[in-house]
Amino acid sequence: MDKDYLELKQWLEETKDEPLETMAGFFDARIDSYEEHMARWKAHYQWMADLLPTSLETLLDLGCGTGLELDYILARFPHLVVVGIDLSERMLAQLRKKHGDKKLSLVCADYFTYDLGQERFDAVVSFQSLHHYTAAKKEELFRKVHRCLKPGGVYLECDYIATSQAIEELAFFEAQRRRRRDGIKDEVFVHFDTPLTLEHELACIRKAGFTVVELVGFLPKDQHTAMIRAMK
Ligand SMILES: C[S@@+](CC[C@H](N)C(=O)[O-])C[C@H]1O[C@@H](n2cnc3c(N)ncnc32)[C@H](O)[C@@H]1O
Repeated sequence: MDKDYLELKQWLEETKDEPLETMAGFFDARIDSYEEHMARWKAHYQWMADLLPTSLETLLDLGCGTGLELDYILARFPHLVVVGIDLSERMLAQLRKKHGDKKLSLVCADYFTYDLGQERFDAVVSFQSLHHYTAAKKEELFRKVHRCLKPGGVYLECDYIATSQAIEELAFFEAQRRRRRDGIKDEVFVHFDTPLTLEHELACIRKAGFTVVELVGFLPKDQHTAMIRAMK
């Protein structure tokens, strides 16, 4: 068994009795330490901002949270028109506090059910939000992302990936075990990491009809966080 698998096994064992938390409940409860905790991704946030096209005018952020990627994106594009969607009202309140002077529309909603519209955005981004969902849920969302992008638009995703099929399966198995134990229905979103392998993630995006779907890469010393780009 590889090192990542053994580390996951050990972490699952150590946390096996912890109750699952709902997605919004998890982030609402950690709002005060959230940005400090996420500071480790600074280089990834900058990278995402750098990858956006110079001509960018309209952007949708799926799971924008407190807007850490937007800190970098808005520094590069201060006049950008942004729609940010997140389940956590407290995360959105923090984002509003930081960037209230910018052209932001913030929506407290579930991006799977919220109407993203048609050919509205030059770019869609998602940073560390989608690694809690199944391939079936993601395929549904990527079709909506494709639809809401203008022709030639770009989707950028920076997120955890499972480094093996065994890791993907183990995490989903454990998520189901904890759901059954805690009596949580499948349709309730919980904060438990279930990343897909890179191959599975790319396959889900390809099914939505993008012309190009590619791994942009990884940053040095981090083989767990992939930057993915898709072009309409
Ligand atoms: C780890 S945080 C990342 C936030 C931000 N992108 C960042 O990098 O700082 C994940 C965010 O995704 C949001 N989220 C998860 N599932 C969601 C859903 N189905 N609809 C909307 N937001 C969701 C959570 O509420 C949370 O704020």
